Amino acid sequence: MDTIIAVLTADEEENERILERAAQIIKRGGLVAFPTETVYGLGASALDADASSKIYAAKGRPSDNPLIIHLASAADASNYAYVNQAFESLAEKFMPGPVTAILKKRDNIPITVTGGLDSVAVRVPESTVARRLIELAGVPIAAPSANLSGKPSPTSARHVTEDLSGRVDMIIDGGDTNIGLESTIIKLDEDAPTLLRPGKVTLEQLTELYGEVRLDKAVTQKLYKGERPLAPGMKYRHYAPKASLTLVDADDDTFISFVSDKADGSTAVIACDEDTDALLCAGYEEKDILSLGKREDIISHAASLFALLRTCDERGYIRAYARLPEKEGLSLALYNRIIKAAGYDIIKP
Ligand code: TXA
Ligand code: MG
Repeated sequence: MDTIIAVLTADEEENERILERAAQIIKRGGLVAFPTETVYGLGASALDADASSKIYAAKGRPSDNPLIIHLASAADASNYAYVNQAFESLAEKFMPGPVTAILKKRDNIPITVTGGLDSVAVRVPESTVARRLIELAGVPIAAPSANLSGKPSPTSARHVTEDLSGRVDMIIDGGDTNIGLESTIIKLDEDAPTLLRPGKVTLEQLTELYGEVRLDKAVTQKLYKGERPLAPGMKYRHYAPKASLTLVDADDDTFISFVSDKADGSTAVIACDEDTDALLCAGYEEKDILSLGKREDIISHAASLFALLRTCDERGYIRAYARLPEKEGLSLALYNRIIKAAGYDIIKP
């Protein structure tokens, strides 16, 4: 299939025409990749079972891994899910925004969308492009991240094009995404709120809102055979670069000395701006030092991580090293994504 690639610019009228065209494609049961504030999504009508099945085919996604439905407003959630007080509180505080709630689903959402579950994931993106597209389409948009299954989530239209060109009807290029890691997912359909996937809305913020929040084991630990994460997607080995990625559980200085004798031209180090000089001295070439940004700038680390993992693949490294992130605030989201990317290969020198 030919994929239309449409670039958003400063011309608001032209942008509106692009979004109208995209909305028509969604209404007719097609697939449109679009930017959100977290990562790019691959959208189809969430009310159309056939359209949502096409998403699984285009991504090569296992059919038991449910999709998030995207709404223009939190007030629409009650049309598709059984909302509760916990959801109302979340919506008031964090929606629109980078957070997804799991609720009991209503019958109008097909089970192809929910991977057979009787719950549904609901999100109201902060991105005005995403919300305008949903409004124009007039239906909730089911959208996973717009990558091939197993690849890092796309934070630019180039990533989407690499993965999905020829497999989807349209890609809307809205530039780099702001946050760079997928939304926080919180399960609200049972008594105690449970965090299934950390993101920009942090565990600390949610704990402040609810008093207590459980943490699904799959967020920070490898599951053993037979154990199931609450979010089916968390069981798959996501974000894995082709290079074998090892995480080093150490302070900054120990990390640098640990990787110092490993420069060999086929090893990359994912580090911070401040580490560059020491790594150059240790024999790394500048191109093999992949910087997440300034050490204290966790927002920049989040925005850069997935693009750096793709860079690792493009450059064909055999090995890569990164420091193990902290487990607090937004860093917990980095921790969760990178331990999976590394296949839980963590070393403590
Ligand atoms: O930021 C985001 O959330 C992005 C943008 C496009 O909105 N979307 C995204 O979707 O990351 P995806 O499909 O890559 O990740 C959705 C995660 C999967 O781990 C899936 O298993 C989980 O949400 N999920 C969806 N519905 C669920 C449900 N009913 N119960 C438990 N987990 C669910
Ligand atoms: Mg995904």
